Amino acid sequence: MAKSVIRTAVFPVAGRGTRFLPATKASPKEMLPVVDKPLIQYAVEEALMAGARRLVFVTGASKRAIEDHFDTDAELEKLLESQGKSELAAQVRSVLPRYASCIYIRQPAPLGLGHAVLCAQPAVGDEPFFVHLADDLIDAGVPCLKQMAAVYNQKGGSVLGVEEVPHSDTDKYGIVETKGLAAKINRIHGIVEKPKPQVAPSNLAVVGRYVLTPRIFRHLEKIGQGAGGEIQLTDGIARLMKEQAVYAYRFEGKRYDCGSKLGYLQATVEYAMNHSTLGGPFRDYLLDLMSVRPDEIVPPPVARKRARKRS
Ligand code: UTP
Repeated sequence: MAKSVIRTAVFPVAGRGTRFLPATKASPKEMLPVVDKPLIQYAVEEALMAGARRLVFVTGASKRAIEDHFDTDAELEKLLESQGKSELAAQVRSVLPRYASCIYIRQPAPLGLGHAVLCAQPAVGDEPFFVHLADDLIDAGVPCLKQMAAVYNQKGGSVLGVEEVPHSDTDKYGIVETKGLAAKINRIHGIVEKPKPQVAPSNLAVVGRYVLTPRIFRHLEKIGQGAGGEIQLTDGIARLMKEQAVYAYRFEGKRYDCGSKLGYLQATVEYAMNHSTLGGPFRDYLLDLMSVRPDEIVPPPVARKRARKRS
């Protein structure tokens, strides 16, 4: 099959982020920083590394800060340059590379993820596209969307990023049904949104990464409210799967659910521990705080990999 580059990434950012209230009352959850970058910037960087150039944000109430973040701020850049802070000015400038363009589409009300994706249709057109949920932060050697683009090029159908979750948590996710559970790439035969553990077809959960064919729009137009009274992307995929192949892909990397307070804190601590300049002092601080010997602390997986490479 001929290789095709997926040019468009859709970022649905119109949810209300109720699990993170009151922090998300007036500012978007996607602007929460993990160390020194907001979640939405990690999302955009991942999509750019996977080849996307057209970035479509589906926004809603109280989301202006996202537009401002990706806008040029000539005044700030000038100020930093005049203060001799060229490195910082370059960082501000590189938030959005010149080769990328942003499109903002308003979702009139948070009717559900499926509805948010449908809102992006005029900007996506008739091409395959990525969907990236910024609150699922994935730390991976090869960016998760890049891994998924490779699967798309190999298989040709839609691809869902999945991982195993505890059986007791199936009612928090879209859960897929596949035949060969152990394989890395499996064609899905069923998908259901937030099933109770007793009726869940598996414990393979869809996380916030998708490659979708444009055919999904046809189905999203037709579905009504699903679980939680929302228009669910999962229900659109359940229909899509009947006419085109949809694959579940077990990505490589560690996911942090930054839409939850605990997941966000875990990401913050682990990203800080691995940060190029803050990592050392932050680890010292943690050791001091925990009052344990350094050799009793097990470094996180990514840090272990980096340490192995260095030695
Ligand atoms: P979530 O299920 O995390 O919902 O949405 P939420 O509203 O953001 O957060 P909680 O559960 O109330 O804390 C998954 C993704 O879909 C987007 C969200 O912005 C998030 O990226 N979304 C959800 C929309 O863009 N529009 C919607 O109507 C619903």
